[in-house]
Amino acid sequence: LGNETSIKKFILLGFGNRPELKTVLFLLFLVIYVVTIAGNTLIVALVVADQHLHTPMYFFLGNLSCLETCYTSTILPRMLAKDKSISYTGCLVQMYFMLFLGISECFLLAAMAYDRYVAICNPLRYQVIMNRKVCLSFTVLSWFSGNMVSLVQTAWVFTLPFCGSTQINYFFCDIPPLIKLSCIDIPLYEMQLFTAAILVIFIPFSLILVSYIFIISTILKMASAEGRYKAFSTCSSHLIVVTLYYGSCGLIYLRPKSIHLLDSNKVLALIYTTITPTLNPFIYSLRNKEVIGALRRLLGDKIFVPKKP
Ligand SMILES: *[C@@H]1O[C@H](CO)[C@@H](O)[C@H](O)[C@H]1NC(C)=O
Repeated sequence: LGNETSIKKFILLGFGNRPELKTVLFLLFLVIYVVTIAGNTLIVALVVADQHLHTPMYFFLGNLSCLETCYTSTILPRMLAKDKSISYTGCLVQMYFMLFLGISECFLLAAMAYDRYVAICNPLRYQVIMNRKVCLSFTVLSWFSGNMVSLVQTAWVFTLPFCGSTQINYFFCDIPPLIKLSCIDIPLYEMQLFTAAILVIFIPFSLILVSYIFIISTILKMASAEGRYKAFSTCSSHLIVVTLYYGSCGLIYLRPKSIHLLDSNKVLALIYTTITPTLNPFIYSLRNKEVIGALRRLLGDKIFVPKKP
């Protein structure tokens, strides 16, 4: 390890291998960022303000939107910056928050699936099972475990010695591109990363899958077509988000050789870091009568219908 150097900063190459797309990508990411912040803030505001949305499903949705607002804010502003360098500490901080929020989201999506499972498979006891205390515990547990796993992973990556190159061929500080820059033998670390990925991606995803197997079999047994439609429509939004999020994460981290970065990883990572947070508010609100109702009440009161004296 003689040629180990103390590194002060890294360069995030991002999508710099396509200089002809520079302006287009800048504008695209700017629009995506503004839309994400606006959409998710609106959802949080609706969930907090509207009495009709004070149910477990919308508490989770509010927390999810809150989480995604912060999540994109750890990644997108850096992508928009002209200066592509990031300090050693900056990189560490970005990785910690990115992992913390991303992993919390994995667990929160699992809690949301459990909520749908109880609502559809055990509707009569829904109020009792998903009481305030249970919801709060699920939320706190998601945030807490995200924090713990992220602390361990970040601490571990930043104790690695780095040699030579400081160029990160990625658009944010993530584990695989940083391990690649270290001068240590990789296989052991590869195993460690893979084990962590099983814990935070594969296990929650399996729980979601089991919930949905029960949900779908219950829906299929329902007598009325209307009931079937209603049950299905409350789950389908969640299912779309889960598929996009876990699909893209899983393809990156659940590949044993994920450290050997492919260019396609950048595109996959774009899906879970920027596309899902942007689409989330639309997927949940456009397909959902209750959210649209809340929006109407909010806008109707404040803008469209002046209050009668
Ligand atoms: C997050 O979840 C908790 C617990 O269910 C809830 O009290 C809180 O209002 C939620 N926050 C948002 C912004 O929805």
